[in-house]
Amino acid sequence: MTEARIIDGKAFAAGLRARIGGEVAELRERHGLVPGLAVVLVGEDPASQVYVRNKGRATLEAGMRSFEHRLEAGTDQATLLALIDRLNRDPEVHGILVQLPLPSGIDPSAVIRAIDPAKDVDGFHPVNAGLLAQGLPGLVPCTPLGCLMLLRDALGDLAGLRALVLGRSTIVGRPMAQLLLGADCTVTLAHSRTRDLPEECRRADILVAAVGRPEMVRGDWIRPGATVIDVGINRVPAAEPGKTRLVGDVRFDEAAAVAGAITPVPGGVGPMTIACLLHNTVLAARASHGLHRFGRD
Ligand code: GUN
Repeated sequence: MTEARIIDGKAFAAGLRARIGGEVAELRERHGLVPGLAVVLVGEDPASQVYVRNKGRATLEAGMRSFEHRLEAGTDQATLLALIDRLNRDPEVHGILVQLPLPSGIDPSAVIRAIDPAKDVDGFHPVNAGLLAQGLPGLVPCTPLGCLMLLRDALGDLAGLRALVLGRSTIVGRPMAQLLLGADCTVTLAHSRTRDLPEECRRADILVAAVGRPEMVRGDWIRPGATVIDVGINRVPAAEPGKTRLVGDVRFDEAAAVAGAITPVPGGVGPMTIACLLHNTVLAARASHGLHRFGRD
């Protein structure tokens, strides 16, 4: 049985972060510009704390400024909006990320809309989502942008390929479908109400799984030779009692026997998200100084 080529997102992300570090050094030397990223965490969600710490560390490693704002779980929406307003007006802050999920009682959509679209390095603001939907340059959500970079690296030109995106979230599925459409793929956006999902998947040259359901996509859902991008990061019980392990939305062993190329979990899409966050922060900083017209890659 053939084994798929493993798409090494960890190595690709390391290369991208090194290139970003070089670009940051050049911006500092030639323009006196130090890109700055503000990350806001409300509450004590353990997973979010890890993500925020990793984002701060990666920002500093790239030579950028990192501003961390930790607010207690009981913070009200008005206080958070006032902080965002301050960050919007701070010239040292080029990117703003409010870690999701937010505690209940705070409306995430109101918070996202309060961020200056030019500093919206998550690409979640309706202005950036609208630009992407119209095929116009803007800030693009980090995870789908990372997936597109891996696909371009693995396959080169994507034009004419059939792509199926599984999951319609605003963070991954929808922007992923838009990016693939922008790359001239024929795109299907499938979701929990899609009829005969395995059959839809089997038609795809590119399958992007972003549903958050552990190992939902089985080997016989995959077209032989297809490229599989697994966005899922699900913690499940391990064989050893009391231990857990990470799995994707795709049953890896089965899929790897059929696919042409596949991202592993961990070490596939995950590392690309932070690298793309740094990439977006550099773009936002350059644009703030008239050094960049927003682009896709
Ligand atoms: N929580 C999980 N993923 C993300 C992300 O990409 N951005 C933000 N802001 N919060 C998240």
